[in-house]
Amino acid sequence: MQPATSAPSSRDKQPRAASNPSSKIQDPKSRRHVLVTGAAGFIGSNLVHWLLRQRENLRVTSVDALFYAGNLANLEDLTRDDRHRFIHGNICDRQLIAGLLDDGVDAIINAAAQTHVDRSLMGADEFVSSNLGGVQVQLDLLKQRPHIRFLQVSTDEVYGSRRPDDPAAETAALCPRNPYAATKAGADLLALSYHHSFGLDVVITRCCNNYGPYHYPEKVIPLFITNLLDGQKVPLYGDGLNYREWIHVDDHCAAIARVLAAGRSGEVYNITSGEGMPNVELTRRILAALDRDESFIRHVTDRPGHDRCYLLDGSKIERELGWSAAVHFDEGLKQTVQWYRENEAWWRPIKSGEYRRYYERQYGQRGAK
Ligand code: TYD
Repeated sequence: MQPATSAPSSRDKQPRAASNPSSKIQDPKSRRHVLVTGAAGFIGSNLVHWLLRQRENLRVTSVDALFYAGNLANLEDLTRDDRHRFIHGNICDRQLIAGLLDDGVDAIINAAAQTHVDRSLMGADEFVSSNLGGVQVQLDLLKQRPHIRFLQVSTDEVYGSRRPDDPAAETAALCPRNPYAATKAGADLLALSYHHSFGLDVVITRCCNNYGPYHYPEKVIPLFITNLLDGQKVPLYGDGLNYREWIHVDDHCAAIARVLAAGRSGEVYNITSGEGMPNVELTRRILAALDRDESFIRHVTDRPGHDRCYLLDGSKIERELGWSAAVHFDEGLKQTVQWYRENEAWWRPIKSGEYRRYYERQYGQRGAK
């Protein structure tokens, strides 16, 4: 696993396009064309921004079904960028996706997924249709378009819970233990099966837990930050000793771009930061970043079947593609807290309506531990 350094976030780097005025006049059609699915979600929208910032010679088509966690506000600053267009649509819509692919797409990055474990425990229908069905539709379409590379954005959760001394390498058995993780594992296998059966150009990335701007506040970091900004307690599950690794979303985007450009077809690449900790430690760091003490922790009953430890061996991507994470967790967390402080107008409307009903179902009845 790579040690994190305190190098600045890639978000802080100068956009390459800014240093090259000729990019303003280049015909967009001559650029490489990437289709990003789930582009209005957390990882998808950060990825679209990252690609347009860091890869001048690229055009991006964003597609998103705008389900509850997809938010057009995440892309609104791109409306005047001629290298970008947004299409409202579902990855299960074969005709729509076929039409987009036939507009000169060179690669798909599939970041479309239902991702929240707690919601998958309430009901798995949408997880199966988006995470599995949507991937099948895209792969089927690529049988007639084998020149298009397919990058599946996957997760460390497919390996299931690990012993603390046994990080999962890409060759480890898949052992998903919740409905969300099971659909992601199924999609990985489906994608690899199309590589082997039909020769499709497939690469898969499996990343540890992300954090950063535009993260929907049902996930632990944005949930805890926004609760604390509102003076509310944070619900810590079980004994708080469940262990996760945390990567800044910009590092994840950089790794995806690296695998897209140079990953070997048919291969899986783990992406990790080496910044793992138990949830109680994570909670303490969030509390410290917001000047709150431990009286703001509300200990609640555990998530059913809560995986104890996700741990990845990230040596393959470093060895083969020379990539390692750059953002130190404490620095990334500080920036993220600042983003939520400055972007109340983004998250406050989210924490009402459907979200409020979800929060009540999820936490209202949850007993104290
Ligand atoms: P989460 O952000 O849901 O990501 P994942 O389950 O995909 O890892 O949760 C991260 C960790 O935080 C996980 O161990 C569950 C825990 N957690 C809480 O303790 N309280 C909460 O309210 C939430 C949402 C998560």
